[in-house]
Amino acid sequence: MSSTLSIPGAVAGAGASSWNPQSWQSKVAIQQPEYPDRAVLDAALADLARLPPLVTSWEVNALKAQLAQAQAGKRFVLQGGDCAESFADCESGIIANRLKVLLQMSLVLVHGLRQPVLRIGRFAGQYAKPRSTDSETRDGVTLPSYRGDLVNAPEFTAAARIADPQRLLTAHARSAMTMNFVRGLIDGGFADLHHPEYWNLDWAQAAPRAAEYRERVDAIGESLRFMETLAGQTIGDFNRVDFYTAHEALLLCAEAAQTRQVPRQPGWYNLSTHFPWIGMRTAAVDGAHVEYFRGLRNPIGVKVGPGMSAEWMQQLCEILNPDGEAGRLTLIHRMGAGKIAQGLPGLIEAVRSKGHQVLWICDPMHGNTQTAGNGFKTRRFDDILREVELAFEIHRACGSRLGGVHLELTGEDVTECLGGARDLTEDDLHRAYRSAVDPRLNYEQALELALRIVSVK
Ligand code: PEP
Ligand code: CO
Repeated sequence: MSSTLSIPGAVAGAGASSWNPQSWQSKVAIQQPEYPDRAVLDAALADLARLPPLVTSWEVNALKAQLAQAQAGKRFVLQGGDCAESFADCESGIIANRLKVLLQMSLVLVHGLRQPVLRIGRFAGQYAKPRSTDSETRDGVTLPSYRGDLVNAPEFTAAARIADPQRLLTAHARSAMTMNFVRGLIDGGFADLHHPEYWNLDWAQAAPRAAEYRERVDAIGESLRFMETLAGQTIGDFNRVDFYTAHEALLLCAEAAQTRQVPRQPGWYNLSTHFPWIGMRTAAVDGAHVEYFRGLRNPIGVKVGPGMSAEWMQQLCEILNPDGEAGRLTLIHRMGAGKIAQGLPGLIEAVRSKGHQVLWICDPMHGNTQTAGNGFKTRRFDDILREVELAFEIHRACGSRLGGVHLELTGEDVTECLGGARDLTEDDLHRAYRSAVDPRLNYEQALELALRIVSVK
């Protein structure tokens, strides 16, 4: 798919190194849908290009500075949220619960790692998904694949699977509503939820490590009370938490339409999110996604898996961060618990040997996906924890540092991943399996993972 939309200020590409928000169109863009009507798409993109942005350039710059601190070993990054947001889940309870689990996890990490935690949500725009095939066949009927609510609908009907440009505007609106609510919650005392007295910890009774968890949570409560006494005010009043957003910037026409220039700042910002990332499937060095990302001022992430060669890794660093800017490039490795020991050291060495400076984050979800005996796509809590443990160890052994984790989670009581304190089994999966794509840690599993990370790090 290509777009003819012209963005003000864009310069026509004259050579290999000239960039503009549409220069990706001269490259191969994979994972893009076919829209049936070009004119309708262009009208939607023109609307999108005019609408107010979701984030500001100064927030983007502030995040880059904090990522630079994480890169220097002074912060730990917690990045998490749904595999894919859905329009239907843009509701207050789901958004508040997701924010709550992320804040609670971050508090456990701050306390256990004795470091500030940089919180980044996979939300307010995580609406597009890469798929392994362009079409899906069921009972002899073939339809286009579901590509996330940004593009089409998951139901298996011809009408639902048509790529609909109107969805670009709905996604923008729902992202804005999500952002607005999150900003409001954070500004207005939601930080009170920091207090473990308000946490739901019933599940922990069932855990073999119940006593350890209880001790940790009590210690967090104690520390907070101490700080409040010292400051003479409640934590919500003196500790305003920052929250940033991230999504996989997959659908390039939509991302380009939200790429802007701002007064008194050089360059171009993607103002649909603070922290866009490139998925593993679209990270080809000569592909359209890498071309689009290289010209942004945002901090950016790249997912790297077991198929990534040392040379490919080095080229990506060279293209995406030629000036070695601190905080600019985060490599999110997603190897799988069984492959990380073999795959990660070579990548760390490949990056170091060329003098590239990056932040390393571990995504322990995407390399550990498996199909349960009853057909559900799932992940085991123990594999997820094991990959994080190994990531800490391998970085340390290689003289590098693991600077954060990237998780798929929800604040709801879903049954999508196996194990955890309640030891969910394959027979539990059907009870509350709600993800249309990848399985997420539920509230309890997510909080437990944070509690385990601080005891293994
Ligand atoms: C994802 O993060 O949901 C995803 C598709 O990841 P990856 O590109 O690592 O497979
Ligand atoms: Co996923």
